[in-house]
Amino acid sequence: MHQTEKKRAAALAALEYVEDGCLLGVGTGSTVNYFIDALPEIRHKIGALVASSEATRERLEKHGFEVSALAETGDLDLYVDGADEANKHFHLIKGGGGALTREKVLAGASRKFVCIIDDSKMVGTLGAFPLPVEVIPMARSFVSRRCIKFRGQPVWRDGFVTDNGNEIIDIYNLQITNPLEMEERLSRIPGVVTVGLFAHRGADVLIIADDKEVRTLKK
Ligand code: 5RP
Repeated sequence: MHQTEKKRAAALAALEYVEDGCLLGVGTGSTVNYFIDALPEIRHKIGALVASSEATRERLEKHGFEVSALAETGDLDLYVDGADEANKHFHLIKGGGGALTREKVLAGASRKFVCIIDDSKMVGTLGAFPLPVEVIPMARSFVSRRCIKFRGQPVWRDGFVTDNGNEIIDIYNLQITNPLEMEERLSRIPGVVTVGLFAHRGADVLIIADDKEVRTLKK
């Protein structure tokens, strides 16, 4: 199967987690886009939708959905999103698309987080994918200097502005042997808004599409 077909297969497998009246958080990225495009088929089951980015909001609205604010819905039943990397402990790297802050909020607000990926995203040790960190603009160089202490190479995502008006630093060449600790330590650097490590609130379910099948891992 081509990678795009795998992404689509994983996304469609997540539809079965949407139950009647579901308050649903929707992630961001090319995998989730397949999920969004299939949502009209189960429109009758959806109680409310909350988007993790402006791009996702626009796509949902194109399908005729009304998008609610998290303040209106309160906690969500389900969050469906992709990831850049995942490990067998359900820890993730996210934020390749730059939506990590709202994604982390929705993951935190949801009773269940179903993560949809193709098999290329499953890794033994997180960190081959550069770790995104959202920072307020004035703290960019300060946070970058602090990141060097973690033996990574911080690179400013030149010209990229998040939906929150902030900037992204991608940290290359990290060996994240302790994701829980790394998430905590990086999150404590002043000026950091969100670290793209989802270890404390990782996925509850991983749906992984490979060449032959779609596998589901549950925590
Ligand atoms: C966006 C994300 C995405 O979930 C992640 O980048 C995966 O994207 P894709 O499904 O396009 O491979 O975290 O901020």
